[in-house]
This record gives sequence, structure tokens and C-alpha cells, in this order.
Amino acid sequence: MKYNFTLDYFQKSADYILSKIDEKPEIALILGSALGGLSEQIENPVVIDYKDIPNFLVSTVKSHAGKLIIGKLNGRTVVCMSGRFHFYEGYDFEQLVVPIRVFKLIGCKATILTNAAGAINTDFHVGDIMIIKDHIKLMGASPLRGPNVDELGPRFFDVTDMYTKELRDLAKNCAAKLNMKLQEGVYYFHMGPNFETPAEIRAMRILGADAVGMSTVTEALTAAHCGMKLLGLSLMTNMAAGILDKPVDGDEVTETGERVAKDFSALLAEIVKEI
Ligand code: HPA
Repeated sequence: MKYNFTLDYFQKSADYILSKIDEKPEIALILGSALGGLSEQIENPVVIDYKDIPNFLVSTVKSHAGKLIIGKLNGRTVVCMSGRFHFYEGYDFEQLVVPIRVFKLIGCKATILTNAAGAINTDFHVGDIMIIKDHIKLMGASPLRGPNVDELGPRFFDVTDMYTKELRDLAKNCAAKLNMKLQEGVYYFHMGPNFETPAEIRAMRILGADAVGMSTVTEALTAAHCGMKLLGLSLMTNMAAGILDKPVDGDEVTETGERVAKDFSALLAEIVKEI
């Protein structure tokens, strides 16, 4: 067995972070590629490098900052990850539990996850934001594989309502206040780093998916295991492979992220205020 995590392992990271802050965060924010701008709005931030936190993971992606930012956003204390961890970088699924478990131990009651995704549902448009209602992960191991940490949650756990209905409704109300329209649908986890083939996208659509991406589900499952409220939001940065007569382009992902960043951040800030 490669990993034998105990509560102590995560508590070490948590204790280090708690020694650097005066107020415990209530909400954890993990922002997807090109959607990280919101972290700049955090007031009086305490910034901690991942590499300084004992037992935390270290970023492999150069463009990802690799910092925790803790402070006030719209009156609420939040912890925000600037740079998240993905399976495609080379981590094992089992390692990807680390950030959420540490956030649980420093006091977070809710997690908001955002990501860039390809739209599979042909009624969706590039630039749409989708509330994740449910997900499909048929590839690879569960991040909860291995010895269970009983103090955090049960060995076998229910994921019927893991994307908390109360938070999905709250997101819809916040969007209405800002005159924004949100989609709602099913996120399909693809391990990456290649985008999908057109045949894979057709298969995913038949299976009931509305969008596809390479992140989020490991964090979502970890949050569900330790009983945190959870909201997932996907930005449709591109139509998925084979829908349009053109290849999937990584630059389009970044450009759409930048174009929608302001509205997306305004929505997130409103949600944080209302949670
Ligand atoms: N597929 C997978 N991940 C993605 C995509 C996509 O089309 N767009 C942004 N992230």
C-alpha cells in the first residue's frame, strides 16, 4: 500500500496554517484555470506557499502559483487555492484528498469548486456557466481508496446529493440578482491531459453528460466524505471535441476564461456573501 494516511498526517498541515492566521476560514475556494482572478479581491490576505506547509502537495505547473490565500471576501473569511492539483500532473488519486481534508480541519464548512470545461450539451454556448448537479467518473480509482480515516468520515458513504441542493439554489438566486443565466447539468471527469476524441464525446453524451473536464471530482468526493457542503461551477470554455468543425484549442480555453472572468468572479463573490 502506497499511502497510509491518518488524521495526524492532515492535522500537521492544518496546525501549520492555523499558526499563521487569526481567524479560521469558513469557506474553501478552489478556482479553475483562468478563473483565479477572484483571489486578488481577498482583503488583508495571509499568503502561504504550498511548499512551506508540512505534508501538503506541491504544484508542478509553472503557470499555477502554488499558494494558499486566506482573508476576507465580501465579509466572509475564505481560504483560496491559487493553483490546484490534477491527476494528469502525475499525482495518484489517493493524494488528491489532501487539500480538502486540510481545509476541513482548519474549519471550513463549505467548498466551492470551479473549473473550465468543454460543453457536450449542444444547447450550451461557449461562455455559459453550469452548476454541477451530479458527475460521472468511470475512470481510475476513488481518491478515498486505502485505509479509511474514520475521524473524517465513514468507509462507505453516500454521494446521492453530494452537490448540495441548498447551494445550487443559492447560486441560482445569486445569478438572478446579477441578471445572469446559469445552466445546470452533469460533469464528466476525463483524466487528461489530452482532450477527448469525438467518439468519446458522443459516448459521454449518451451516458448523460453535459460537460467534460479534468478536475473537480476528486475534491468533490473528498468534501462529500467529510460532510462538507459543496458547490461546483463549470465554465464552458469551448464546445467539446467533434461538435464544431475545428480542433479543441487550449488557447480558446484560456481566452474564454479571461473573457468571462469578471462576471464569474462577481457571481462567486455574491455566493460567498450569501452562503
Ligand atoms: N475537455 C476536457 N477538459 C477541458 C475542456 C475539454 O474540452 N475544456 C476545458 N477543459
